[in-house]
Parts: sequence; structure tokens; C-alpha cells
Amino acid sequence: MSGRVARIRFDRVDKKNAITREMYAMLGSALADADADPAVRAVLLHGTADCFTAGNDVADFLNAPRNPGVSPAKPLFDALPHMSKPVVAAVGGPAVGIGTTLLLHCDLVYAAPNARFQLPFVPLGVIPEFGSTFLLPLIAGYQRAAELLLLGQPFTAQKAYEAGIVTAVVPQENLLGEAEKAAMTLASLPPESIRLTKRLMKSRYGQGLAAAIEEELRIFGERLSSPEAKEALSAFLEKRKPDFSRF
Ligand code: COA
Repeated sequence: MSGRVARIRFDRVDKKNAITREMYAMLGSALADADADPAVRAVLLHGTADCFTAGNDVADFLNAPRNPGVSPAKPLFDALPHMSKPVVAAVGGPAVGIGTTLLLHCDLVYAAPNARFQLPFVPLGVIPEFGSTFLLPLIAGYQRAAELLLLGQPFTAQKAYEAGIVTAVVPQENLLGEAEKAAMTLASLPPESIRLTKRLMKSRYGQGLAAAIEEELRIFGERLSSPEAKEALSAFLEKRKPDFSRF
């Protein structure tokens, strides 16, 4: 921690910071600890300069089939949307799957021009998670959300900015510095005003967000054992193009 800002960094470089069950648990408790610690006033979430995170570990999807409604990402789902303190994210390189959907729950998101976002849930034979079917149409408008969620193709920092996912695109060499500066500014402002303002904004989601997270979780779990998902996930690990022609 520095300047009352708690820093959380994805650090599994050899697998593009893909998030395992253990990493979700660590991330969830780091966020909850920061929220509970009176010395912390803001949180900064980042990866390395050339990779935010490649999302959920694909091998975990295949090897650890889960029950519908239960997810290894639960510690993150339980912590991030309920943070009373502001969360700033700095994104360089790939931010895939939950690497993009978690940003919808952050307060300020800075991206470098090398950031590559992607919501490849449909191409992977599953469905979007972490409330993104609720939040993205709200943030980006239905048509832009539909393009990003149905086609599931990678998109640039500029497109993420236009869709409202990103606060600002900043030069790569300043990415962490800009995000840190914003976090320090938040940390220097009246903490109760920040907390109340954030709570008022988020409370406008009503039950919609929680209901979406829950429904997505159930359907996501069912989809994981579908033949479409098995083909898509195996194709990724076998480094080949998936073939959906038989479905
Ligand atoms: N889960 C598990 N392993 C992953 C991973 C993931 N989500 N993303 C990347 N990796 C692994 C690769 O299998 C590879 O491992 P290897 O060196 O043992 O073969 C290593 O990380 C490097 O990945 P690679 O694909 O070679 O890097 P790249 O720079 O060419 O591409 C990405 C980076 C992020 C664009 C690409 O890896 C990707 O699309 N990953 C999958 C993302 C995904 O579908 N996530 C799930 C979303 S629901």
C-alpha cells in the first residue's frame, strides 16, 4: 500500500495472468481486506504492462466442471460489486472474458493503446457472466453491447472508451502512473462523500444486477458441460479452430 491506495496485481505471467480458483480466492480476500481496512481509501487493480488478464483459466473450465449456480469466481463476485471504496483499474494488453467484465464493476478504468478487450463467451460456447448481460447494454447501449457480446471479437481501447467501459485511454508509458494518480486523488478526497456517492450510483441498479449475476451463473454452469463449449474449449487448448458445423 502507498498513499492509502491498496494495490492488487495479477501475477501469472506465463499463462497471461489467466485466473485460477486460488487466484479468485486471493483476489476476493484482497478486495474485502482493503474495503475493511481503515487505512485504505482506494484500490488500484492492474496486471503487467503487456497483460491485464486472459480471463478465467480455460483448463479449469474443462477440468473442473461445476454445478450450475456455483463458480470458482464467487469470491470476486461477492467482493467487487459490493466495494464501498473506489476501485481503479489499469489495463494494458489482453483483458479477456472476466478480465473485461470485472471492469464494469470498477469506478475508473484507464487503458493503454495496446489494451485488447474481448468478451468471447459466445465463441466459447458459454454465456457472458458477472452481470455483463445487464451492465453492458446499460453502459454501452443495446446494439454496441450486442456486437461485443454476440460476436465476441477482440476490440481496442478506443472502442472500449466509446462503449463506456473505459474512462480514458492514456499512453502506455503513463498507464500505471495515470491510474495511480487517480487513485491517490480519490484517496485524498472526503472518504464518506466518496462512499455515499458510489453507493447512490450503484444502488440505482436495484435488484437487476444481483439477479443477472445469479441467472448468468446458473446458465453458465449448464453451458460448460454442453457439447458446444467442450468443442470450443478443447479447440483453444489444442490450438486449433473450433468446428461448430455439427450443432
Ligand atoms: N487459460 C489458460 N491458459 C491460458 C489462457 C487462459 N484463459 N490464456 C492464455 N493461456 C496460456 C496459453 O495456453 C499459453 O500457454 P502455453 O505457453 O503453455 O501454451 C500461454 O498462456 C500464452 O498464451 P498465448 O495464447 O500463446 O499468448 P498470445 O499472446 O498469443 O495470446 C491471448 C494472448 C490472451 C489473446 C490468448 O491467450 C487468449 O485468447 N487466451 C484465451 C482467453 C480466453 O478465452 N479466456 C476465457 C474467457 S471466458
